[in-house]
Amino acid sequence: MGNEGRLGRLNSLLRRRGVVLPSYEIYGGVSGLIDYGPVGARIKRRVIDAWIDHWSSIGGVVEVDSPTITPKPVLVASGHVDEFNDHMSECSSCNAVFRSDHLLKDVHENPDSLKAPELDKMIAQSAIACPSCGKSEWGDASPMNLMFPTRIGATRGGRDAYMRPETAQGMFMLYPALFRHFRQKLPFGAMQTGKGFRNEISPRQGMIRLREFNMAELEYFIDPEDPPTPDLGEWGSSVSLLPDPEGPHAGEHSLTFSEALDSGIVKHPTVAWFLALTWEFLVHVGVNPERIRFRQHASTEMAHYADDCWDCELSGEHGWVEAVGIANRTCHDLLSHEEHSGSKLLRGWRQFDSPRTETRDVLAPKGAVIGPAFKDEAGAVTKALSELTEIPDSLPFVLHLADGSKVEITGEMVTRKNEEVTLHGEYFTPHVIEPAFGIDRIIWHILDHGYSEIEKEGGEYTILGLKQTVAPFDVVTLPLFDKDGMGDLARRISSRIDSLPGIQGDMDSSRSIGRRYARADEIGVPWAITVDHASLEDGTVTVRRRDDQAQVRTEVESLLSHLSSGSVGDLF
Ligand code: ATP
Ligand code: GLY
Repeated sequence: MGNEGRLGRLNSLLRRRGVVLPSYEIYGGVSGLIDYGPVGARIKRRVIDAWIDHWSSIGGVVEVDSPTITPKPVLVASGHVDEFNDHMSECSSCNAVFRSDHLLKDVHENPDSLKAPELDKMIAQSAIACPSCGKSEWGDASPMNLMFPTRIGATRGGRDAYMRPETAQGMFMLYPALFRHFRQKLPFGAMQTGKGFRNEISPRQGMIRLREFNMAELEYFIDPEDPPTPDLGEWGSSVSLLPDPEGPHAGEHSLTFSEALDSGIVKHPTVAWFLALTWEFLVHVGVNPERIRFRQHASTEMAHYADDCWDCELSGEHGWVEAVGIANRTCHDLLSHEEHSGSKLLRGWRQFDSPRTETRDVLAPKGAVIGPAFKDEAGAVTKALSELTEIPDSLPFVLHLADGSKVEITGEMVTRKNEEVTLHGEYFTPHVIEPAFGIDRIIWHILDHGYSEIEKEGGEYTILGLKQTVAPFDVVTLPLFDKDGMGDLARRISSRIDSLPGIQGDMDSSRSIGRRYARADEIGVPWAITVDHASLEDGTVTVRRRDDQAQVRTEVESLLSHLSSGSVGDLF
């Protein structure tokens, strides 16, 4: 079977078998929106569970869950309202609209890094043909903000908002709760899985470019003066790295993660650690390691919030596609939210090795006034006054307390003094290292890399070689015939399988056994159990392995215990 049309056949399999389908199809569909059907939703659930387990295992990381509707001021502070744009070019002949950089993907290595005039010049010089009508008449590239605007509440008193373009802002909003949860000690991380929304200009390529998609992001908060530097020795494989094409290491390098850090190609130790963990996760869920590479952004390509960014790209039917972005967001978000909201709770605390003395201006509280004025809160007010890093020029002023509340401090409550203070530590704005995973793009590549077409008995045969960790079902139970008690026994075995912790079975009793094996192979079920006449007599079943169709006869009890321990392969 030739490679031509493989993409079409894979897509049609995914649709036919309820893996991924176009949304709202009976109304004509909407580009950029997809459904995960009964098989796909299980694969997605397992990929997300594996992702949560993977990042939980590094320790000091918790899961959170924030709203998708985000008030405008949050996204003004994060920079998305002003900066989260793509350039679009409109065909003057047929009015079709395309992302300007995508029009140039065959003539420039990294068109995402080009500014509007450069995009226009190159589109004209290269006589790019409109993908819709074939003419080469283009209007000027213009920026389009990708966020979906919405409103919270009734029209008059309502507030402007957007559907979130990333889950990350939810973690920044929760920073004070996270800081308390982790007993004021960095580093720590918060992760979130959920929908992100981007009004992509011209979504094509199926699951690659969606308008509503599944994200999985970790915001890892660190002290920039003391970043985690884990030993990278445990990842011995070499990986392909493409550093900034304008930087000193331009070119493709094949290195281990520890060599990448030692050579200075990856600058930040925590970024290098997250590149390794990203690679490990992708291989664990079934991405082919030969088809993974890490590409560093050129400075002109970087998102508005990032200081350094590596894309983890996967190759498949759509070429090299970014599936994960690992960015050093520095203090961009927390600092900007502090400036916009006035909150003083977006900071970390750095304890000094030994106390330091310093002379500085202070506002010394007058106990006789503060006590009666603030009663139970007087202690908190005194503490907040002693922790002020900037003394206001004039009084009264608004003081933020540690619990997020605010009080007014008047001239009668304090005395301005110049005094020697002993400092045990200092507040600082934490930096953030962020791996941002696109779950749909990862699932696409798992499906693409797992899909194989083989010649079998003179015909074409399709196998989806999914790892058991992400297969929609661990095992399918097939009665040879649904009669003479075989169907009942198969149902009993199937329900015992479903009761095993973490194991999910399926049962299929319609049509010939050959057709049923083929259906299970097509959706990637690694094991099939056949219940036949002999099973009724001696309690044994046939176990069939998807990948080589080998079969072995075994007792039901032995099969169940091997399923539980993840060692069915040992039966062969
Ligand atoms: P691209 O350059 O392809 O538009 P991006 O650089 O905007 O992607 P990020 O902002 O880094 O992507 O988003 C993080 C991850 O979310 C990406 O690595 C990708 O896997 C996923 N992602 C981004 N946009 C989409 C989309 N429209 N549909 C599906 N997944 C997406
Ligand atoms: N949170 C990173 C991104 O949306 O790219």
